[in-house]
Amino acid sequence: MAKSDTNHDQRIVSPNDVDEKETGEEKSLRPHFLKEYIGQTNIKKELSIYIKAAKQRGESLDHVLLFGPPGLGKTTLAMVIANEMGVHIRTTSGPAIDKPGDLLSLLNELQAGDVLFIDEIHRLPKVVEEMLYSAMEDFYVDIIVGQGSDAHPIHFPLPPFTLIGATTQAGMLSAPLRDRFGIVEHMNFYQVADLEKIVGRTAGILNVSILESGAHEIALRSRGTPRVANRLLRRIRDFAQVSDKKDIDEDIVKYALEHLKVDNLGLDQTDIKLLKTMIKYYDGGPVGINTLAANIGEETDTISEMYEPYLLQIGLIKRTSRGRVVTNKGYQHLNIPVPDKKGR
Ligand code: ADE
Repeated sequence: MAKSDTNHDQRIVSPNDVDEKETGEEKSLRPHFLKEYIGQTNIKKELSIYIKAAKQRGESLDHVLLFGPPGLGKTTLAMVIANEMGVHIRTTSGPAIDKPGDLLSLLNELQAGDVLFIDEIHRLPKVVEEMLYSAMEDFYVDIIVGQGSDAHPIHFPLPPFTLIGATTQAGMLSAPLRDRFGIVEHMNFYQVADLEKIVGRTAGILNVSILESGAHEIALRSRGTPRVANRLLRRIRDFAQVSDKKDIDEDIVKYALEHLKVDNLGLDQTDIKLLKTMIKYYDGGPVGINTLAANIGEETDTISEMYEPYLLQIGLIKRTSRGRVVTNKGYQHLNIPVPDKKGR
């Protein structure tokens, strides 16, 4: 089947951050300190201890690895950590660092204690990843210059710094890299109550009036993801404005999301297509993710990073050793009778 020509980043419920990056709006919504950062309570508690201890010792913070699906605030958290430490942050991403020289110029600009944030760190080229090992462990890099018989290493000492790496998938990081992070945090989807607070905070910053019922309905349909919640809020604000609604309430949220084709669990057309394909062509599974991806015309990584984590989290599908399976709850959500099969 042909690849779909729909751009999944244009989904209203996409956790990717294309439109916010363009407008810079997400930046202005970011909390700056741990006390303003809503949710992820255990992670905040742990980080506040490690930050306090490092500051008391006058040392840089140990390297931090953040795992979690897109849109949960890994970049924001890295910026909060740098702010709390009172240091600068330099942000980049794995695919943007092509060769060892690129990494060296980033490291070279750091001052003692600064943070280097590498998003999608699992996508670093191998030669760059290997250069990070000595940088992280002993704060130096050796670069080979010259060619053939002229080739010789040059030793670059570095200031102590904190590497913060972010990745969407735990299994995609090599063991030697993972082992060099002293602090490892797994971020989870947000609770509805936390998303309500985030929506309320964003509404305040955007100067829109929202009722509790409206914030609750947005929270329910945001796939546990602040980036989705904030994006839905902006679109619903448009609907409210042109309908001359003074406040965002439950009714306008439902009305807007019906237009945007986001259902009461936050699923969009692609999620529904994925579930229906599993049911129609594979009898509800088990079906392998590559087969499924080819069938609905999406990349395998897109399914495993953007669609699947939330569908698993809310229990509409489950993973088995033989592939993905639609659960009873999945059938019920689509109003399709559950087949008489064990193990759903
Ligand atoms: N905006 C987006 N994510 C947030 C969070 N976790 N806390 C506060 N504001 C946010």
